[in-house]
Amino acid sequence: MREWIVAGNWKMHNTIAESIALAKAIKEGTTTIKNGEVVLAPPFTALFSVGETIKGSNVQLAAQNMFYEDKGAYTGEISPGMLKDIGCTYVIIGHSERRKYFHEQDQDVNLKVKKALMAGLKPIMCVGETDEERVKGITRSVVDRQVKQGLNGVEKIDNIVIAYEPVWAIGTGKVATPAEAEEVHKFIRGILKDLYGSMANDIRILYGGSVTKDNIGDLIAMEDIDGALVGGASLKADGFLGIIKNISGKK
Ligand code: 13P
Repeated sequence: MREWIVAGNWKMHNTIAESIALAKAIKEGTTTIKNGEVVLAPPFTALFSVGETIKGSNVQLAAQNMFYEDKGAYTGEISPGMLKDIGCTYVIIGHSERRKYFHEQDQDVNLKVKKALMAGLKPIMCVGETDEERVKGITRSVVDRQVKQGLNGVEKIDNIVIAYEPVWAIGTGKVATPAEAEEVHKFIRGILKDLYGSMANDIRILYGGSVTKDNIGDLIAMEDIDGALVGGASLKADGFLGIIKNISGKK
């Protein structure tokens, strides 16, 4: 039985004060949750304050990115050890915005995934095709490459979460239909089965892209959708708590 996850990716939003207020509301709204995991990924500047705010609660801390070296002359970068030190359990890796604006390649994603695991962090590895790739009909080959190269050399995947985020659905309000999303989720699970055998049945695959409390119910009803990676709708407590409520009632 796979436990659901709802992760809020705040991206480059929220001051420290705003982050604390939002984290407090999420913490208070999730005290009765019995199964599943709630994860918050604030910007780096608010990791410490959010970590303090959610201490001892059901909510876990994630970073939105990391570098793949332990330490050294890498101006502007953050190491996996630093993220452990500040209390992160998860780290988002290979988000499409990192791939698009910061030119991250599958090889970078792979190095980061391996390094995160070595440091005891759980990577949420993001994959997903662009609009152009979907129109060309190459969604499967793109996702296949991203999953296989991202996991290259990874022997144990039990601490890995995959997030399928079709780029055309991110921040556009154009959510994938449950059938569209499930088709790719099933395809990803098939790749994982080829690589890791029956262990693939335990791996959580999250959907991301314009998720709201109104559309999550139908998505989460799909067999291979195990939760959500939420951007815009995670920035308001009621919207995010609504998503959590609609997932925890269904899985
Ligand atoms: P939106 O929910 O704003 O579409 O963003 C999804 C996302 O990129 C989460 O990582």
